[in-house]
Parts: sequence; C-alpha cells; structure tokens
Amino acid sequence: MSTRLLQQLGEIVGSDDLVVEPEVMASYAIDWTGRFRGHPRAVVRPGDGHEVAAVVALCKEAGVALVPQGGNTGLVGGGVPLAGEVVLSLRRLAGVSDVDPLAGQLSVGAGTTVAAVQAAAAAAGWAYGIDLGSRDSATIGGTVATNAGGLQVLRHGPTRAQLVGFEAVLGTSDTVSHMGGLTKDNTGYDLGGLLCGSEGTLGVLTAARLRLVPASPERVTAILAFSSTAAAVDAASLLRRSLPELQSLELFLHSGLDLVCRVTGAAGPFEAEHWAYLLAEAAAQHDPTPAMAAVLDSIAAVEDVAVATDTAQRARLWRYREGHTEAINTLSPPHKLDVTLPAPVLAAFIDQVPDIVRTADPNAVTWLFGHVGDGNVHVNVTGVHPDDLTVDDRVMHYVAELGGSISSEHGIGTAKRPWLHLNRSEAELTAFRRLKSALDPAGILNPNVLLSPRPRAR
Ligand code: FAD
Ligand code: MLT
Ligand code: ZN
Repeated sequence: MSTRLLQQLGEIVGSDDLVVEPEVMASYAIDWTGRFRGHPRAVVRPGDGHEVAAVVALCKEAGVALVPQGGNTGLVGGGVPLAGEVVLSLRRLAGVSDVDPLAGQLSVGAGTTVAAVQAAAAAAGWAYGIDLGSRDSATIGGTVATNAGGLQVLRHGPTRAQLVGFEAVLGTSDTVSHMGGLTKDNTGYDLGGLLCGSEGTLGVLTAARLRLVPASPERVTAILAFSSTAAAVDAASLLRRSLPELQSLELFLHSGLDLVCRVTGAAGPFEAEHWAYLLAEAAAQHDPTPAMAAVLDSIAAVEDVAVATDTAQRARLWRYREGHTEAINTLSPPHKLDVTLPAPVLAAFIDQVPDIVRTADPNAVTWLFGHVGDGNVHVNVTGVHPDDLTVDDRVMHYVAELGGSISSEHGIGTAKRPWLHLNRSEAELTAFRRLKSALDPAGILNPNVLLSPRPRAR
C-alpha cells in the first residue's frame, strides 16, 4: 500500500486512529479461537459514518480491500484480514441514542456492545431480545452482519428479527439510511434484512434501530439430566410446547460438563454422572417456577434436576453451559462446526457425529453442545491442525445429507466457504454474486468471506 494512501487514511480518521505498528495491530489480526491469523496492512478506526464513507470511497478508488471488524468475537474467521487487507474497525462508533420507551426502540452506533444495548433497554423498562456469551465484546454491527442467534432465539428470534432500521455505507461508498423504525413498512426491498447476515461483504453497518421486547424479570433456571440424547431431545420438544414462558433451552453432554469443571475448578451440578443435560430457563413478569415445575413433573425421563431462582445460583447453572466455549479453547484452536438439523434426526446426529469425526481423523476429539431449542448443535473438534479440512468436509457433507444447515448462527466466514454450495443452489449463488457486484462493484469489502468457490471434487 502506498505511503500516500496511508497518509490519506490518516487524514480521514486522525493519526491516532490509523494503526500500522505490528504490536498494536496484533489483536486485530487473529480471531477469538486462534485458528485464523492474518497480516493487516493497517487498521483504521473511523469515529463516525462520514469517516467510514470516506475510507470506503478512498479504498474503492485505490482497489484496496477492507475487512470490517467489530468486537472480533466471530467464530468463522470472517473478521480477520487473511490476505493483507486493511482492517476497518467500527468499535469507535459506540453509543445509544433516541431511546423511545413508548415504541420500545432505540438507536445505536455499530460499535455498541450487546451488553450496552441490554443495559440501555433495561433502563428504559424494556429488554433486548438477543443474548449471547460474547455480550461484553460483540458489537451490534457484528451481530447484524452475522445475524447472530444466541440464547433466546426460541423466544425472540435472531438478530434480523430485532432490526427495524439501519444505516450503512455500501461498497459503492454510498450511504443508505432507513432509521425510521416503523414496524410495518412495506416500501420496497428490505435492504437492512439483506445486510443482516451478509458478513460485511455488501456494506459496512454504521448504525441500527432496534426493537425491544417486554422485560421478564422473574426467572427460573433448571438443569435436567438424562440417560440418552434422544430422551433429552424429546424433553426439549415437550418443554417448548408446554411452557410458553420458556426463554432458553440448551443442551450439553457429560464430556463437556466434565471439561468445564476441570478447567474452572467448579464442582458439577450432580453427584451422579449422566449422559446428557438440558438447561431450561423460563422468564416472565410473574414467577414462572410453578409452571416450570408442572412441566418437569410430567417428564418421566428426567434422572436428576437442579433448580435455581436467585441470580447467583442461576448464574452458577449457566456457567456449566456458557463455560464450554472457553474450556474447549484451552485444548487447541477448535474447528467450530455450528449446524442445524431437522428435528427428527437431531438426536441421532448428535450420537453419530463423534464416530464420523474419529473415522476422518483418529486424533480428533468432538465436543457437542448448543441451542437445542432451535435444532442448533455446536460441533467443536479439537486435536486437528487449523488448516486440515478433512473432518470439516466429512461433517459438512453429513449435515447436508440429513437436510441440515452448515451454518446455523455463526455465518460462513472463511471457515465454511468450501461447503456453501451444499446448502445453496447454483441459481442462488449466481444471485448472491450479482448482489455482490451491484453493491460492491470493486469487490473491496471482505473479499475472502462467504461467496463460495466452485465445489471441490470429493
Ligand atoms: P466480528 O467478529 O468483529 O465480525 C464478525 C463478522 O461481521 C465479520 O465478517 C465482519 O467483517 C463483520 N462485521 C463486523 N462489524 C461489521 C459492521 N459494522 N458492518 C459490516 N460488517 C461487520 N454467536 C452466535 O450467533 N450465538 C452465540 O451464542 C454466540 N456465542 C458466543 C460466545 C462466545 C464466548 C464467543 C467468543 C462468540 C460467540 N458467538 C456467538 C460468535 C460472535 O460473538 C458473533 O458472531 C457476533 O455476532 C460477532 O460480533 P463481533 O462484533 O465480534 O463481530
Ligand atoms: C455458544 O452457543 O456458546 C456460541 O455459539 C459459542 C460457541 O459455539 O462456542
Ligand atoms: Zn451458539
């Protein structure tokens, strides 16, 4: 990159926010898992939407590729500059404004964290419908770009369902803004919905208008133990149809629980060992404990149960589930295969996938957990070299054969590009490419993400 271009970038964002020192760029260059490492030419940190537009216009003119980055908690390598791109960090675009307690909406800069939105919503007497383990670092821009799911999708839907307005700089360098926040607004293409899940390949989100949901301050959390995956999956279905207050429904296995306990030093929730566990949380404006207890009484397969209603005890139960991500990362950079399966094959998939992984690579170890209420399993594989795709290839094909999705909530990023064609027809991929050339004609926005190369021969 020319010195002149660097100087121009510095003039747009200010010299303090043009970073070229390798030691300062280091944290922007590697993903959260440690599997994907890049070498940015520079990191630019604009302070508002005008600066973002000027950076995009300049880079478009110069043909220099940009990788938008928020909290850098993404799990598919989509936010790191793998081919020497410039990192466009959106974290300075943080702040909540225009809180409307009447409508139950607020506006945020793209760099605002999910936790900050949750706090602002609570202060207005509402709640934000998205919650995820990375809440303190993940930004609204990143969660919109990946259409993040998380722990409350079964009740409130994914991030796309929360987005009622957006502002973005497209790859053309045009700024598009539609922040009115009208719930009903059928006035043409849903550009915000299109940018949601586009992983920074079509435009750079600079602001969003978000809908809020009613607060549900009364909560009960339970961990239920089962002797088989099938029994846990059956119970999950019963809980979903019998308990309208259900907000989260998560699955993990004994192997994962044991790892979390070993890594954190915590004692387990039960004295006895069980095969599978469900974490169920009900939330309402009135105490949901009696309703939860009635449903639990009707599930004969429950072998053990731990229930908590106060904040500290509930947090203790949640740590067994939320601790999985960090505990697995202590072993080796994991291959994160976040998938959705149709309900009838979900339990069999969970039981069979470790054998499929072991057959592909005898050194590989499988860890399974996830948002079972959404049919979403996180297949994590450790003990595999970051660049070895043998296991990924086997699992992705198996998921597609069963009619599942190869990416449930994390996105395609760079990690799953080789398998996008398993879920998307050639006609859809052609439409994707046409959208990309229309909104990013110079191809400068996240060129290594999402759009699949031609299928590899098996
Ligand atoms: P980044 O990682 O910085 O970027 C992610 C993608 O979005 C990249 O492609 C990037 O180019 C693009 N992008 C970022 N900002 C913008 C912007 N302003 N405009 C355009 N493109 C942009 N994910 C879930 O879905 N559910 C979970 O339950 C969940 N739990 C997690 C728990 C932990 C402990 C961790 C580490 C991660 C978890 N994630 C989860 C993954 C991650 O937090 C989400 O993918 C999140 O949406 C990423 O947000 P971010 O700001 O960190 O984005
Ligand atoms: C989770 O559900 O904990 C996240 O999606 C993170 C992960 O997959 O590890
Ligand atoms: Zn998840």
